[in-house]
Amino acid sequence: MTNIVSYEERIKSFNWEIAEQELNYQTGQVINIGWYCSDRICHLGKADKPGLIWEGSSGIEKRYTYNDIRLKSNTIAQFLQDLGIRPEERVCLFMDKIPELYIGFLGILKTGAIAQPLFSAFGDESLFIRLDNARTTAIITQKKHAPKVRKILGKMPYLKHLILVDAEPGKPLGEREVALNMDEAENVEHFQCFPTKAESPSVLHYTSGTTGQPKGVKHVHYSLISQYLTSKWVLDLREEDIYWCTADPGWVTGTSYGIIGAFSNGVTQCVLDAGFSAESWYRFIEKHRISMWYSAPTAIRSLMKAGEEVIRKYDLSSLRHLASVGEPLNSEAVIWSERVFGRPFLDTYWQTETGSIMISNYPGMKIKPGSMGKPFPGITATVIHPETYQPYDEPGRIGLIALKPGWPSMMRAYWNNEETYRKKFRNGWYLPGDRSSIDSEGYFWFVGRDDDVINTGGHLVSPFEVESALLEHPAVAESAVVSKPDFVNMEVVKAFVTLKPGFFPSSDLDLDIMNFVRKKLSPLAMPQEIEFIDNLPKTRSGKIMRRILHAKEWGEEIGDTSTLEND
Ligand code: PRX
Repeated sequence: MTNIVSYEERIKSFNWEIAEQELNYQTGQVINIGWYCSDRICHLGKADKPGLIWEGSSGIEKRYTYNDIRLKSNTIAQFLQDLGIRPEERVCLFMDKIPELYIGFLGILKTGAIAQPLFSAFGDESLFIRLDNARTTAIITQKKHAPKVRKILGKMPYLKHLILVDAEPGKPLGEREVALNMDEAENVEHFQCFPTKAESPSVLHYTSGTTGQPKGVKHVHYSLISQYLTSKWVLDLREEDIYWCTADPGWVTGTSYGIIGAFSNGVTQCVLDAGFSAESWYRFIEKHRISMWYSAPTAIRSLMKAGEEVIRKYDLSSLRHLASVGEPLNSEAVIWSERVFGRPFLDTYWQTETGSIMISNYPGMKIKPGSMGKPFPGITATVIHPETYQPYDEPGRIGLIALKPGWPSMMRAYWNNEETYRKKFRNGWYLPGDRSSIDSEGYFWFVGRDDDVINTGGHLVSPFEVESALLEHPAVAESAVVSKPDFVNMEVVKAFVTLKPGFFPSSDLDLDIMNFVRKKLSPLAMPQEIEFIDNLPKTRSGKIMRRILHAKEWGEEIGDTSTLEND
């Protein structure tokens, strides 16, 4: 059945109550995402429908019906409750894209606790900063990632439980460790979900800023309203769809659309837990007859690079609808996908803080390749002057993207960081920190970020975090981190480094510093290039001028250097 009603019709009479009614939710009632994504789908008569089809790197496959998802999320919820986890405590999910991550997420929410997903490639430093900030009580992880947790356990007295989903039977467990084998544990038929309300906290995702440590973005159970409806209308999820969201639930796309949007719409979703290759992706689409595919520009550019020969080897005729998020989707990628898949990737724009799609190429709307499209019905978006914070009167002006607060999935706070949260609002607008223009037909054209955060392959990396990690390396005296252009990842991390006396540039040192950052932070944050220099450009007051280094990398005008110390 189609969800398509024209964009113009949708905005004419839009009200979030449309989603509330479809979900049978009334203001003031209990709303629990865990229940909506499993029990409710079973009540709708879809208990035996496949909900999750998972494939691992070795090719093994696991299938879970909606009833399995209900039972296994109950089992995990009961386990957590028996451990003593209380509502609103933070429970971290630190796993690869395995079924326990998807189902565990729902289990945590069923108990009323807050799910805190963290990307499994994070190193111990990245992990510690986020667990420490959230004062996380329990972490659910796999054997292979446990050493990173054990390394920092001594610094985290508040972390009471390290839950291993794949502990070897009979093998003794370490301090604070417990085993939970989801597939072998006895199913819990009935679990009384904690009666969370609209404003009860649900998910805590960490995102990077230019300065300071990563911020914990607090979402609430009412976010379901936005995530359900945008999945239905923009991703156009339909009853018969086989859906594939390629994002990792360590990041917001993987939870808002890889878990909540998918399961609350009761579709069958497939997960591929394996590294990227064009062959394996096309084989996956062919094998599972994927019809809706939500991915990211970096992946699309990698597919473009792999060429068209490989596409012809596979039957991709099941693809009906494609969408993309996370970074600018260049017009070439849109045109290419239309040619090779017979469908264009539709760009969608949003961020961790917004919780759901804000601006998008709505299905059925005229596509202008390279444009992000128009605001979702119910979202008031504009572009404002960066100093007066007033919307521009005429089209084509570049300014800050501004969103009128009030949609259901808006973040409710930065965890313990009221001041930074307040700074995101100006003149009654929420400012995501991006620049754009709007054309005469109301289409948004992304220009760039309004800060120094590096978006590499759709993942935000804070230059501050990388610089801090670099400074811990014994050879590094000072560092400045900027982005440099890259065809596939759009931008990658580059570090300028001055060395301490007694250390000299060499390729060994270069590699050593790169690995040091990779292990501490993550492969994404690892500089792809290190340039050793004698002096970093600084202002007279001693502040490193990243702007100058950035401009050089991008071949841009350097601009005003009147405050430069070493002129
Ligand atoms: O700068 C924008 C960019 O990614 C940022 C959000 O990153 P994150 O919070 O990690 O969430 C990513 C997935 C929702 C935005 O502030 N971004 C996101 N989508 C687009 C984009 N830039 C250009 N075009 C997009 N479609």
